Amino acid sequence: MLRRCPVAFAPRMMRAVKITAYGGPEKLAVTNIQRPVLETGEVLVKVAATSINRGDIAQRKGLYPPPLGVTDTPGMEFSGTVVDMEASLEDAPGYVPEIGSRVMGIVAGGGYAEYVAVPASLCIPVPSAISLTQAAAIPETYLTAFQAMHHHAGLLPDKAGAAQYGAGLKTRPPAAALGRRYRMLVHAGASGVGIAACQIAKLFEITSITTSSEAKVEACQQWATYAVSRTPNESGDVFAEKVEAAVGKSGVDLIIDPVFGGRYLQEDGQLLAMDGTVVVLSFLGGSKTELDGPTFFQRRATIRFSALRNQSDFYKTSLTQAFRARIMPYIQSGKIKPVVAKTVSLDQIQDAHRMVEANELTGKCVVVVDPKLAEK
Ligand SMILES: NC(=O)c1ccc[n+]([C@@H]2O[C@H](COP(=O)([O-])OP(=O)(O)OC[C@H]3O[C@@H](n4cnc5c(N)ncnc54)[C@H](OP(=O)(O)O)[C@@H]3O)[C@@H](O)[C@H]2O)c1
Repeated sequence: MLRRCPVAFAPRMMRAVKITAYGGPEKLAVTNIQRPVLETGEVLVKVAATSINRGDIAQRKGLYPPPLGVTDTPGMEFSGTVVDMEASLEDAPGYVPEIGSRVMGIVAGGGYAEYVAVPASLCIPVPSAISLTQAAAIPETYLTAFQAMHHHAGLLPDKAGAAQYGAGLKTRPPAAALGRRYRMLVHAGASGVGIAACQIAKLFEITSITTSSEAKVEACQQWATYAVSRTPNESGDVFAEKVEAAVGKSGVDLIIDPVFGGRYLQEDGQLLAMDGTVVVLSFLGGSKTELDGPTFFQRRATIRFSALRNQSDFYKTSLTQAFRARIMPYIQSGKIKPVVAKTVSLDQIQDAHRMVEANELTGKCVVVVDPKLAEK
């Protein structure tokens, strides 16, 4: 099979978003920069679309620098078509996407651009059921949700039964052995990650409960088994009482927590089942918290700080492979549909950041880089 074709047509320069100085959305500018040069094992993707992630906003503010050696062009995901590949891939074993094929995936940076260079092993074929615009809403949020549920908490056992999780250190008994469904609590339930986690939970018969602002509770009910607001009650309790009323006192097996600060982590602890896991994704509610040790100790709890961006390519490849096998069939069959809340052009990047930062959306903000390609 001929995998390679000349790319004389691909210009050496490309349009890309740069952060001109740390600060507000006005610090983002579309400029011309050099197209990435392929390194060993990489393919060149002509980007159809990318999406806004909170990490991009933190990077713009100077709070989340790209990992060492990674481009400072923001953007942690892409969809597009493969236009070139590094020579060693021509007869490499394993999955290598063909020239011209539609792919999506995560990158540690560089997604807000016309071209992105990405290890072939991190490419995910885009199923025929979805457009490249929809595909751009998938990689970062669904891989993050899947990683929390599968790798960190062991809630998605294969047919053989018990799931190994936490680097194979623990084995979670199958739900049948517990005599109940697994239960998962997701904070910021209307976020891209929250929606993805609840959609996956539904397919695997996991009971899900979300917390969100009052205004988004109704939206969350579309995906979650239960949805409660994060408006504190008179005693200052943010969500623990409401979650307990919904799912009972025996607790939840996994909490996906991008909020952390204030009372979140402590209330998480009160809600955990035995051997429960809290996956901390970020610090929307602040980076400081008080923690009552015995609450977590008595439940043999795991608090897992999870950062996907700076993981090794080796780790990301294994995560991507597991995701392709376990979740992609549901995207192909239409059982999982990514939620695109807004589509903007690359030139509207400042508005896109403003909307996401103001929590205006429920679902993903997709940035279309190549409108014709994105429709495909
Ligand atoms: N560590 C990782 O590898 C990783 C990977 C992906 C994402 N993340 C993190 O996961 C989170 C979700 O990402 P996303 O892209 O899916 O986000 P998103 O779609 O932009 O949604 C974020 C939601 O967070 C809620 N929120 C904002 N401030 C809050 C606060 N102080 N307390 C409680 N909720 C608050 C808002 O909903 P309400 O209106 O309901 O408040 C908002 O809609 C982000 O914080 C992101 O940085 C981490």
